[in-house]
Amino acid sequence: MMKPRSKTLLAFGDVHVPHHHQVALEVMCKAAERIQPDVIVCLGDLLDCGQFSAHPPTFGMPETEYIDDLNTACALLDRLQATCRRLVLLEGNHEYRLDRWAAATAEGRGAYSMLAPRVQLTRGRKCIYIPYGSANGRYPHYRINSRLVAVHGWSYSRHATKNHLIMSQGKSVIHAHTHRADASIVQNIWSQGRIVEARSAGCLCRLVPLYGTGRPVEWVHAFILGYLGRRSDTLYTVPILGRRCILPDGTEVTT
Ligand SMILES: [Fe+2]
Repeated sequence: MMKPRSKTLLAFGDVHVPHHHQVALEVMCKAAERIQPDVIVCLGDLLDCGQFSAHPPTFGMPETEYIDDLNTACALLDRLQATCRRLVLLEGNHEYRLDRWAAATAEGRGAYSMLAPRVQLTRGRKCIYIPYGSANGRYPHYRINSRLVAVHGWSYSRHATKNHLIMSQGKSVIHAHTHRADASIVQNIWSQGRIVEARSAGCLCRLVPLYGTGRPVEWVHAFILGYLGRRSDTLYTVPILGRRCILPDGTEVTT
């Protein structure tokens, strides 16, 4: 039984439409519909934006129209928005591809507002959008509460989550970008009985073979669930196991 005035959080990232994993995404949406969280945070790379990449398309991957990808992403956001009180969208480096493309070409500058995820994903939608690039010298982030921030991701290294904990300088942090599901929890030495943690959300895209070849892939389908209290937060990583997941209270969510 949740304490009154505590809040529920659901966070997910790295959907990479059109490379999303339909079943994993459906499990997360079903979980959102069941939990009806106070806050949903999309941690970025909702869209792959491969059409705006300087790299050639990955062999074997379907090539889609960007407008169709936008429509898929918007339909997902509509569905999630109906389940929660607040929707937060963090921009990822993949959505930011569009900004770089626009900055590099006159054609891009002209078409920017018609295409930019920050315009198109938020049109007619009541949500908070956090751009990827820093416009004011501050690190782009969403402050969930006084103890916890959300960022797309500052590192892709093997120990990225631990690095996030160091870089966040005393605050707990949730992130995406690595497609892995890690957690690093330490005691808060300045405040006995408290902890500080970093946690990565896993991903909801197809697991292989988008990036890199020749080494095992550690990506995991998962999302983060949080109970945010007045004095402390408790976060869980919920792995998606085939067509189902088990919530922290033991409830099974299936597609
Ligand atoms: Fe990313």
